[in-house]
This record gives sequence, structure tokens and C-alpha cells, in this order.
Amino acid sequence: MTASGTRSILPPLSPEEARHSAAVAALIHAELAAAAGWLSFERFMELALYAPGLGYYSAGSFKIGAGGDFVTAPEVSDLFGRCLARQCAEVLAVTGGEILELGAGSGRMAATLLTELAAHGVLPQRYAILEVSADLAARQRSRLAQLPPGLRERVVWLERLPERPLQGLILANEVADALPCRRFTCRARGVRELGVAPGEGADPLAFHEQYAAALPAPLPEGYTSEVCLRVAPWIAALSECLGRGVLLLCDYGLPRSHYYHPQRGSGTLRCHFKQRAHDDPCVNVGVQDITAWVDFTRVAHAGLAADLTVSGFATQAAFLLALAARGRGTPPHHARGDGRSLQGHGAHARLRCRAGGLCAAGSAPPAVSRLPDP
Ligand SMILES: C[S@@+](CC[C@H](N)C(=O)[O-])C[C@H]1O[C@@H](n2cnc3c(N)ncnc32)[C@H](O)[C@@H]1O
Repeated sequence: MTASGTRSILPPLSPEEARHSAAVAALIHAELAAAAGWLSFERFMELALYAPGLGYYSAGSFKIGAGGDFVTAPEVSDLFGRCLARQCAEVLAVTGGEILELGAGSGRMAATLLTELAAHGVLPQRYAILEVSADLAARQRSRLAQLPPGLRERVVWLERLPERPLQGLILANEVADALPCRRFTCRARGVRELGVAPGEGADPLAFHEQYAAALPAPLPEGYTSEVCLRVAPWIAALSECLGRGVLLLCDYGLPRSHYYHPQRGSGTLRCHFKQRAHDDPCVNVGVQDITAWVDFTRVAHAGLAADLTVSGFATQAAFLLALAARGRGTPPHHARGDGRSLQGHGAHARLRCRAGGLCAAGSAPPAVSRLPDP
């Protein structure tokens, strides 16, 4: 679909959104001019989402929840956080220490977890939040200020990852999918990286092919997908600051054999604007979310390379059902008291893809995939 075709199926921008999007596009055009007219998709995504004061996550749009652009599992219901609290309680019972949540969104999951952990009698010494969006951090502060004193006093916001290794849990729900990724397409003479270049007429930005890159092969000609090279340094940095405990990542994603399945020929990149999902990142730049599914095999390899142990991988449905079925006081299942571990689990694309047709296999939120173990 052309950019104008995509725009025609999306709600119109408000005058303020249009002004904001034009400012983000101007910033990207300035970088394009300085970079001889081509930017990698990764750099484009970084600017569109995180350019200081302008990017989607750096500026002040509503984003998450029913009145925003998309809905995440903790926003659908507190059941997600309450189930997760059981896992946290099991880990904290072994390790003690704290919880560090990355990208805490509206703060709802933090509020649910703290309330539930208090009920389990296993509160973390502190609940640290590392949030790149000043706007979302402000929302988190006002939501968590409503907690009872014994809980809200445990919450702190960090500017960067802790320098001293922590004990306990690092949590991230729907953060890995927001790491800027690269895009590529397969041609007869090899894999070519896709970038962004100035467009023509009413379409001010357009995809552009640039150069061959070392990416998954062999794949059929025309096959287009994503690869997130930032996963490994991200996991390595998280491993550095995890002394003893569990890194728990929840996201929509697949093991690699499914991620790069020949039939998934147009990749996993999705954009979200006012509860509509589409696949054109060059429209509504700076006022829509851009995301790509997570290659969990890459996550697992990155964890192993960073001296973590992969202690589990499951669909979110299986993970939540197992936790829901488990009563309080059951012995720890996933936690490793004697070392560091990493647990990934998969897909809940339905929540983000109402218009995207990805929910075919889903029976009830947040279930979607029936995946074998990687
Ligand atoms: C899709 S939202 C998910 C929010 C929340 N976890 C939820 O489930 O509702 C992505 C969040 O990750 C944050 N984020 C993105 N990159 C990050 C990074 N490198 N470190 C920490 N937070 C990040 C964003 O600002 C945002 O809060």
C-alpha cells in the first residue's frame, strides 16, 4: 500500500500531531542530508522513537491504554501482574533483594506487582524503574504515588542501569520489541539492507535498499524481515548488573525457525496509531509506535554469551496459566538460587494487532501462539 493509502485507513492527525510529526520528519531529513540521503532503518527507528524531546517515546503523546495507540497485557487487566507476582515471589523468596523494571509504561504493572507481593509477604527491598521516556516516567510517578506509603517508598527511578550487581529480578514487558532493528530484503545476488531515503511529492520518506549485510540466509528472493542487532549488547548490559537472580522478558516473538519461516515473507514490523495496526513506518513519523517481534533464539544466544542460564521459554498463555494454577507457597520452580538465569517467553501479538490478523491462533487474551520449545 502507498503512504497515502495507509493514511486513508488511519484516523487523521490532530493539528498538534501533524505539527509534531513534521518536526520529527524535519529532524530525520536533516540527518538524511548529512548522511548522503540514506539512513539505516535502525537509525530511522531510533530517531522516530527516541530522538530527545521529539521521538514517540520521548515526547508527550498518550501512547498506552484504551485512549492511546496500543494496549499491553498489564493494561488489559491486573491478572497479568498478579500472575507475574507469583513468579516474582518465588524468585525473591530465594534471592531476596530488589526488582528492576525496564520501560514501566503507565506504571500499572509495578502497582499490581507491589500490591500483590505485599499480600504474598515477599516485598522487594526496592522497586527500581529505568524508563527512557520522561513523559511515561511522569505518569508512573503519579500512579505509584497513590500506593500506600509502605509500598510507594520502595519505588525509585534510575537514570541508568545500576553499577553494582543487583540481587532479585529484572523485568521487561514489551521492551525488547521496541529496540531499534534493521530491515533487510533478499535479492537474487544476496541480502540487502533496507533503509530510509527522501521520498517524492506527498510521501516525504521512503524505504530504500542499500548494501549487502550478513543476515539470515538462505531465504527466498523477495523475502523481507527484521534483525535486531541491539539485543546482544542490551542483554550483555543487563547480565552485567544482575548479580544473582532472574531476568524475565515478556514480549511477542518467536524462536528463530518460526521467525524466519519462508511463509513469513514480509517480516514482523508493525506500527500502532490510535489502536490501528499497519506496516508503514514512514507515515505519522514520531506520533506512532514502531515495533518488531522478538527473535527469542537471538535473546537466548545473547543470554548464554553473557554468562546467563536459559531457564525457561514458554508462550505467554502457558506461562500465565501455570502461574495461575499454582497456589501460594509452592516451592520455587524457575528461580536458581545458585546462579544467574534468564527466562524468555513468547507471543501475545493479539493485544497489539487487532487490525493486523495475527490473532488467528489466539483463543483468549493474551494467548496467541502454540509454539514448540526452541
Ligand atoms: C511498549 S511500551 C511497554 C510499557 C510497559 N512495559 C507495558 O507493558 O505496558 C515500551 C516501554 O519501554 C520503554 N523503553 C524503550 N526502550 C527502553 C530501554 N532501552 N530501556 C528502558 N526502557 C525502554 C518505553 O519508554 C516504554 O515505557
